[in-house]
Amino acid sequence: MNKATIRDIDVSNKKVLVRVDFNVPLDEETGAITDDSRIRATLPTIRYLIDRGAGVILCSHLGRPKGEIIEKLRLANIARRLAEILGKPLKYARDSIGPEAKQYAAELGSGEILVLENIRFHPEEKQNDPAFARTLAALAECYINDAFGTSHRAHASIVGVTRYLPSAAGLLLEKEIENLSGITENPSHPFAALLGGAKVSDKVGVIDNIMSKVDYILIGGGMAATFLKAKSYQVGLSIIETDKLSVATDLMEKASKNNVRLLLPADVVVTDEISQKAEGKVVAIENITANKRIVDIGPRTASIFRETLQKCKTVFWNGPMGIYEIPQFANGTKTMADTLASLKATTVIGGGSTAEIVTEMGLGGKMTFVSTGGGASLEFISGKTLPGIEALPDRE
Ligand code: 3PG
Repeated sequence: MNKATIRDIDVSNKKVLVRVDFNVPLDEETGAITDDSRIRATLPTIRYLIDRGAGVILCSHLGRPKGEIIEKLRLANIARRLAEILGKPLKYARDSIGPEAKQYAAELGSGEILVLENIRFHPEEKQNDPAFARTLAALAECYINDAFGTSHRAHASIVGVTRYLPSAAGLLLEKEIENLSGITENPSHPFAALLGGAKVSDKVGVIDNIMSKVDYILIGGGMAATFLKAKSYQVGLSIIETDKLSVATDLMEKASKNNVRLLLPADVVVTDEISQKAEGKVVAIENITANKRIVDIGPRTASIFRETLQKCKTVFWNGPMGIYEIPQFANGTKTMADTLASLKATTVIGGGSTAEIVTEMGLGGKMTFVSTGGGASLEFISGKTLPGIEALPDRE
């Protein structure tokens, strides 16, 4: 990586503003944190700073509060969880700027931690407002970006602050860049991309960019319906993106020109209602009737995908194969997760819901790398420049 990292700047006994991505999933009813992986992923950077006597000022967003204070999106629970994990008390300021944050930051001693309130309570954050960025920067003496998951956003705490403080990448950001660029720049072959999730539009960039690098593209999830429709199969009530039918056709043609084997489901699970008690039925893709919708890949497809993945030395996976939240439609996704966990290959999981599933199944440790970035990992794999990485100075 050619960007300055935390090891390239002097953080000893300094006040360090660290942008982290503590945008963790919360239980809709209780507000409890359902997966704290993103908090744990920042521990190496936090510990690195504490060990060097820095005062650590953590700044994050949570959800999309649209520039207003939303009580259930306060960072209090997250600060509490971090204190529990670290086994040490920390300070929490109920605003990210203003008198309290300023006072706590000024009083912060060597090796102490301050968690600032949800930065998106201020509309200036998303506007990348220079005055806001400068006020935030004034809390510290240097800046570390460890929020890979938000580095595709040109916001004040990601991009703006780098104009006012000596800046560098944190250990998580560095690890993300190394692992994700490892698979796009120098993958071992055969290399497969396993892609699912609801929308083709979310994955077009990824498919396009990795076309010249992969040997296989395996497509499941809701987006498979658009590909099947583009091949003139009846997909019943499955949601298809009609404006992406020609994109799907182009991608399939491009794959064939590049000698990439693009595999679509051979069978699927269909249902006529999406609910926890819905019943699924396995059908070949030729037999999807008008009143049904696709909710998972079928068992034959799962075995074809498994056998293909077993031949591979590198696999990138993003997007569930079906409606994972409904247990009877989660089998395809679970089979793929188990398959990847058993491979002797480099396995990289794009973040978001795929990472949550792998973590929930207790398989995170069996993968080579589980990215903490959802949209950010897709943009990175699509070959886009992420503004948060771009804003950091190059290593001298
Ligand atoms: C994510 O969960 O992908 C990041 O935290 C970014 O969140 P955002 O999509 O609300 O910017």
